[in-house]
Amino acid sequence: MKNIVPEVIENYAARHCTPENEVLAGLVRRTRESTESPQMQVGRIEGAFLRLLTGAVRAKRVLEIGTFTGYSTLCFAEGLSENGSVITCDINPETTGIAREYWAKSPHGKKIDLRLGPATETIPTLDGEFDLAFIDADKENYPNYWKLIAPKIRIGGMILMDNVLWSGEVVSSTPDEETRAIMLASSLAAADPRFETVMLTVRDGLLLALRKE
Ligand SMILES: C[S@@+](CC[C@H](N)C(=O)[O-])C[C@H]1O[C@@H](n2cnc3c(N)ncnc32)[C@H](O)[C@@H]1O
Repeated sequence: MKNIVPEVIENYAARHCTPENEVLAGLVRRTRESTESPQMQVGRIEGAFLRLLTGAVRAKRVLEIGTFTGYSTLCFAEGLSENGSVITCDINPETTGIAREYWAKSPHGKKIDLRLGPATETIPTLDGEFDLAFIDADKENYPNYWKLIAPKIRIGGMILMDNVLWSGEVVSSTPDEETRAIMLASSLAAADPRFETVMLTVRDGLLLALRKE
């Protein structure tokens, strides 16, 4: 994954975000040491944004698709009020094992509910509405995630979709299957009359969709 913004600018921006707490910083180190793809973590700028947004919309229920080692999950949990909760979905018991270890070190860890299994199977089992949802898992399923999650978002709630610029591949003349799935999901969001959308060039691209009706 390639950031859209030059690294020197990213670093400058990161220095002007609220600093990472000890648990998140430790999780970054551990993920670098123990996993093959540490760049999958949303990182400091996007993590700070997710936390701030969760607090700003006073979210009580968050749904996350793609836990990995739990960095973004913990950012959501930190942004939630004391009685809030985040349901996070993944298929990997090893990386989510690291996540559990670090969530246990945080006072916000108790707000997290991990569901192991393919998210396309987990989402239909979830009752009730969500204030926020974050799509950050297998790219081929992005259009399915959009279709399954959109009806579960309350009016005034939001869906966030990560990696929507896919290192710039979305403007390639020969997009591969993953890229085409990301492009389709973004088109579904932008054309959905229930939502107002904005695509930001944060990190690898982040689409925000606000449910209006
Ligand atoms: C980009 S990583 C998520 C990064 C995470 N949000 C963070 O900030 O650390 C994508 C995750 O999606 C998970 N995943 C892949 N296919 C999945 C599926 N069908 N259902 C649920 N999770 C899946 C992978 O195991 C991986 O941990």
